[in-house]
Amino acid sequence: KELDKSIQGGELFFTVILNPNPCDDKRHRDIWSKEKTCDRLPKFLVIGPQKTGTTALYLFLVMHPSILSNSPSPKTFEEVQFFNRNNYHRGIDWYMDFFPVPSNVSTDFLFEKSANYFHSEEAPKRAASLVPKAKIITILIDPSDRAYSWYQHQRSHEDPAALKFSFYEVISAGPHAPSELRALQKRCLVPGWYANHIERWLVYFPPFQLLIIDGQQLRTDPATVMDDVQKFLGVSPHYNYSEALTFDSHKGFWCQLLEEGKTKCLGKSKGRKYPPMDSDSRTFLSSYYRDHNVELSKLLHKLGQPLPSWLRQELQKLR
Ligand code: A3P
Repeated sequence: KELDKSIQGGELFFTVILNPNPCDDKRHRDIWSKEKTCDRLPKFLVIGPQKTGTTALYLFLVMHPSILSNSPSPKTFEEVQFFNRNNYHRGIDWYMDFFPVPSNVSTDFLFEKSANYFHSEEAPKRAASLVPKAKIITILIDPSDRAYSWYQHQRSHEDPAALKFSFYEVISAGPHAPSELRALQKRCLVPGWYANHIERWLVYFPPFQLLIIDGQQLRTDPATVMDDVQKFLGVSPHYNYSEALTFDSHKGFWCQLLEEGKTKCLGKSKGRKYPPMDSDSRTFLSSYYRDHNVELSKLLHKLGQPLPSWLRQELQKLR
């Protein structure tokens, strides 16, 4: 471990700069414990952003017989969030303990989903250092809808600022607004700067290792998306999602089909019921995200990827 020792404001800080993969270097491999395996690390990461359908994708992925996820974090029972936060300083052993020891290394696909990786400054560099060959999956929906869904999520988690301020107040807060409002605004809007964040991942991962899923299609036609995901991952055997998923009219979403026609859907916190976005907020956000969306369209064009329908609609507004 490289340590960056610096004195700031009289306090001593140690920062682990990067955790490289010990298996990539023969000298490290030779001194590593025999009980350890180089295959107890993810072959792919679902990086987010939050509120785009990442939990639905997670549910569908773990239905596949060869795809295994990490066990939940014992503290939060949620995402591991290794590459983006201070957990990173706990080191590789801490991270690897979340993953099952793969039974058959060539066919098992371990993965991890942490939806905050997407907009993290550090995550791409750190992930590329430990799992450079990992494939990266991101899901995009209209960033305005994402921001609104995120705000509703914060309200239902009783975030004081989200309860106190309307959505419009959050997104339109100016530089002199109270700091709690400014902080909430940043967390709400910044993940939607899609091109910015994807460009940062592409500094560290080649384009062929990145899959961009249209979140609208994941919502309406998950079987087709899951076929694309399987092809992208190169996972076998091919799993037939058109037989394994069913639309649950009560939930209003696609769910896993169980025996005797029962369904397993995501819980109440996914696919929440809330009023539609007001038109002032829609107009504000459409303008706020305009340049970001133009950049995204250029980037997708460069990558030879089709434009999702929401992006085409947003670009048409510019004409
Ligand atoms: P809403 O609750 O605002 O409708 P994430 O898991 O990344 O937090 O994303 C949550 C969003 O996933 C939900 O946002 C919902 O619209 C979307 N979603 C897509 N497919 C879904 C599915 N099959 N079941 C539930 N939610 C789904």
